[in-house]
Formats: sequence, structure tokens, C-alpha cells
Amino acid sequence: MRSRRKFLKSGILASIVPYLGFKSSRHLANKIQQFTSNNTQDLFLLNKDRHFFNTASLGASPHQVVNAYQEWTQKLESISETGHQNVKTCRNATADFLGCLSDEIAITRNTTEGINIVAQGLQLEEGDEIILSTHEHVGGAVPWMNVAKEKNLQLKLVDLDLSGKDNLIVLKNAVSPRTKVISLSHVTCTTGMVLPVKELSSWCRERNIITCIDGAQAIGMIDVNLGDLQPDFYATSGHKWLYGPKGTGFLYINKNSIDMLTPTFAGAYTTDEYNLNELNYSYLKIASREEYGTRNTPIIMSLKSAIDFHTEQGKEIIIEHGFSLARLFKSLLIDIPEVEILSPMDEAFSSAIITFRSPIKGYKEIQQELMKQHKCRVRGIYENELNAIRVSCAYYNTEDQIRYLAAAIKEILS
Ligand SMILES: Cc1ncc(COP(=O)(O)O)c(C=O)c1O
Repeated sequence: MRSRRKFLKSGILASIVPYLGFKSSRHLANKIQQFTSNNTQDLFLLNKDRHFFNTASLGASPHQVVNAYQEWTQKLESISETGHQNVKTCRNATADFLGCLSDEIAITRNTTEGINIVAQGLQLEEGDEIILSTHEHVGGAVPWMNVAKEKNLQLKLVDLDLSGKDNLIVLKNAVSPRTKVISLSHVTCTTGMVLPVKELSSWCRERNIITCIDGAQAIGMIDVNLGDLQPDFYATSGHKWLYGPKGTGFLYINKNSIDMLTPTFAGAYTTDEYNLNELNYSYLKIASREEYGTRNTPIIMSLKSAIDFHTEQGKEIIIEHGFSLARLFKSLLIDIPEVEILSPMDEAFSSAIITFRSPIKGYKEIQQELMKQHKCRVRGIYENELNAIRVSCAYYNTEDQIRYLAAAIKEILS
């Protein structure tokens, strides 16, 4: 068995060597060793003997993020305090990073929680229409399906234009006099397509249609300025492209939209005036009222460290790194005849996610073979029956890794 594996491995290496322009399998093996220790990779804990291209599901954290969690745990455990007063430094850093007010940021556990806070908190009535696209993630769709069932709302699904070009028109055309909310990804989790959130939000505002944007695939991967985009609500996660700790996220609540929401959960930090004896309370007018009760301060401070990481490394540098790898990957995929690229070809709608499929093999087979034979972790896209493979190009990925992956795909499909 071992010799068969060895044989397969050498066969694979030999077949991709010419593609990569390396002299021999040994040369390639050395090269793989090298590209696992470049500068950006050394900042992370990621295991260097596999190639991780699945940041859109879960980003790996840098050492400093993990250390921040450990240090804050030590510090607070040694005095057994909540450290709650420190949480605002995370909100402040996030607001600076996203170009909005600190009072517009609530720290959550993930994108799904943010969308649920919006779906449950809006005063929607029977017959109101909610528009979603067919490319929404389960975490962006089920919160609406859930509330639609409860309140008898109408959900309308919109098919997006995969080229990216016509999506504003497609979405505008879907609106009816009953439309109350459009809930949409900023960057789709299926093909990494960037949607026209700014134009849509402004168009919707003029028509009193509420915009709830799912930014799970956007924050840390593309430049997001919420003060400029101005949706009503924007939910995201810290544990994907921000490389933050797992189980963290943010919900942006536009200062002009806070009154649209009623907190679903309320308690400490939710209220302004509170008097139990008089059974009196009023809600704070800031987003952080959604952070009811005691929270995990070390994890929140670790999230702040992730934001600091982006600022210290240079937000633009991190973004450009992912985008340039994605451009390279796309250019390599174009040369593989057995591959159909599903991500937009137009740069204006492209991101650091590239999705492709092949008539030769299904997503399960390709995903498994990439992992088993080439130690490449990608994610199959079964959503919307796309039967495709998604590749995330992150800060810890290298050009050589991308070339290696493309060569591996070529081999698997030939
Ligand atoms: C677009 C989108 N929305 C929501 C989610 C759910 O994220 P979380 O599990 O952090 O809530 C994901 C996860 O991949 C996603 O891609």
C-alpha cells in the first residue's frame, strides 16, 4: 500500500513538473517545501504540509490572534473578572476598519446570528415580501424562512446573473409594491461574485425598502466601507477572511435604522433607563444593545487583534494578495479545457474566490482527489446544484501553491 502511494505520488509529481516548469519531481518537492515557508505563512499556525484553500468556510488565525486569546484568558482568569469594559476597544477598532460609527457595531457570534437579529427584530406583517437571491448561504436564508413561516411572509427568490453585469437590474426588477426587505450577500459564497450593494442600498432607501447585507465573504477580503455603502443592516463573521477567532462576528446597524429593530433578546447592556420596582425600561439607541449579558471578553479581544492584524499588515496589501492570486488562478484554469469557470470573468465583479466545475468529474470526486492525492483543501459547492469546486485565495496562500493546485486539477481532469 505504501509503495503504491509512493508510486502514485511520484507519478503525480512527475506529471505536474513540466506544467510548473520545474526540472524534476525532486525539484518540485523542494519547491513545495519552500513555498510552505514564505513570509505570510509564517505569521499563521497553519499546518505546512497541506495546502489550505478554504478560507471562505473558515479562515486560519495568525499567531497574534491566538496569543491575544490566551493572554486575555490568563489575565481575566487570574482575577476572575469579565473585563467587559474592554469590549468597546474592539467595537472602536471595527468601526474604524469598516468606516462607520462605533455605536453602529454590535459584536455577535457569527453572520447567522446577525441576520437572525434583523429578521426577528423587524416589524414585518403578513403578506410582506422579502427578496433573497438563489445564491444565499443557508445562514443567510434560513433566518428569513424561519420568520416567514412564523409571520406568514412571502419569500421571493431571484436568480442572479453569473457574469455579474446585470444584477442591479435583476434585483430592481424583482421588487413589487409588497417588497419590504432585500437580504443579499455582498460577495456570494457560491461563485465569489461581488453584488452592487451600494447602488442597491441607495435605490432601496428612496423606496423605503430595507436592505440587510450578508457580508460573511466580504469583510477582510474586499474593501468594505459601511459609511459609504449605507445599507440598513450588515452582518458578518470574524472567522473567515478576517482570520479572527472562531465564533465571532459583527452586526452593523445603521444609526438611521436602529428604530426599525426590536431586540429579540434583552438584558444587561440592552437598556437605558431600567427600574425593576417600577417595571420600567427603555432600549439604548445603539447597536451594542444586541450584546445582552455576559460575553467572552478574551475572544472579543482576540477579534480586535485580528482587526489590528489587517491594519498592521495593510488592509490593501492583504486584499491585493488574495485578488492577485485569484487572477493568476483564473488565468491557469482558462488553459484547462476540461474546466468551466463559474466566477465572473469581469474584474469589476470578481473577488478572491474562484469557482469552477467540470463535465469530467463531480465536485465530491474532485474535492476528495485534491485532498487525498495533493493535500489541497478546497470546498465543494453543491448549493444551487452548481456541482462545482470553490477555491479561496487568502493571505497565507502563495503563487506557487496556486500553480501547484492548478496543475493538480489539470492532472485530475485529464
Ligand atoms: C455568505 C454567507 N453567509 C453566511 C454564512 C454563515 O456564516 P456563519 O456560520 O459564520 O454564521 C456563510 C458561511 O460560509 C456564508 O458564506
